[in-house]
Amino acid sequence: MAEIERVHAVPPEQLWSTYVLGRKPVIITDLLEGMPSRSVAQTIAAFRDLSVAHEHGAGPLTLRDIHEREAAGVHALDLPIEHVRPARGLFDLVDRLKTPLDRRLDELGRGPARADCALMFYGFHEATPCHTDGWVTQSVSAQLAGTKEWFLAPPQLVAPLGPYGSTILMDPMKLTREQRQTLAELIGGYSFTLQPGEALYWPHQWLHGTYYHEPSIATVLHFGRDLFSVFVSREVHRGFLRHAILEKLYPASAIEQRHWNDFIALHDACRHAHANPAARFHAIEDVLRQVYASCYPDQPLARLAFDFESIRALDEQACISFYEGSLERNREAWVETTQQPLFDWWRAS
Ligand SMILES: [Fe+2]
Repeated sequence: MAEIERVHAVPPEQLWSTYVLGRKPVIITDLLEGMPSRSVAQTIAAFRDLSVAHEHGAGPLTLRDIHEREAAGVHALDLPIEHVRPARGLFDLVDRLKTPLDRRLDELGRGPARADCALMFYGFHEATPCHTDGWVTQSVSAQLAGTKEWFLAPPQLVAPLGPYGSTILMDPMKLTREQRQTLAELIGGYSFTLQPGEALYWPHQWLHGTYYHEPSIATVLHFGRDLFSVFVSREVHRGFLRHAILEKLYPASAIEQRHWNDFIALHDACRHAHANPAARFHAIEDVLRQVYASCYPDQPLARLAFDFESIRALDEQACISFYEGSLERNREAWVETTQQPLFDWWRAS
């Protein structure tokens, strides 16, 4: 049975070696002990002066405004980091695992939240459909108040769910909790409920979805970015192959020790001046298939439980759009945030 592990008092070195490098999600039960234990109403009251969002034609909103106005919905908001600091266990753990690149992105506000903020999620009677995040970063989601249901699956095992782009055709968040649990067991994923005061670590590029059956407030902190995986997210369209290979091409030491030739093949295909976005997509897709075959010799694409060719037109247009629009912006952001050359940066240092 796919039951997620719950642990207490995990030092940062152990979180890194056992769970980050082991590609294994875990719930840590003591990280919010420094924060007063609060109900949803108390948490909303504690953040009463905090302006968290704007709406069209309206001024700043507080969490209480959103809570009182909406019968259902999910909102992603910026939570100033000082509200997280009292949770010393959480703050210290993530802070010890931040890389120089994480700190630079935090300072510039180029991560998922504004500068000096953490991402906060408020939701009620709504699901966040299963998806894979575009950024490549480790995440710890701390449940401040209320509960939240989660579905998680490693990227190389999601073929039966119909992966395309950053999402899947069949959404487990539309199933009942019991059906979702059975599905998790069948494919090798996890289905569980995060309780208030608990914090979840989950590996980057894992499929994840959530359901808020009651008002629920959580904050998420990030760490562990390196230039190699950020390069792949900068240059390569989202999809099953990218997600699956990043499970192996991380961290940089794994590339250097085991996947250097794979990485260079991908790097060189990205560096090449292709005739147009469609040509770029096809060239990179070819290399992704080769790298996938090298990373997963026991799980060839042709034997996976999904007919990728049947949705090729659907997938292809979204991927080509990435090369038409996002790629140039991603490259500009790389230069600004990393201050490294676009290619071959390891030779420059
Ligand atoms: Fe996400």
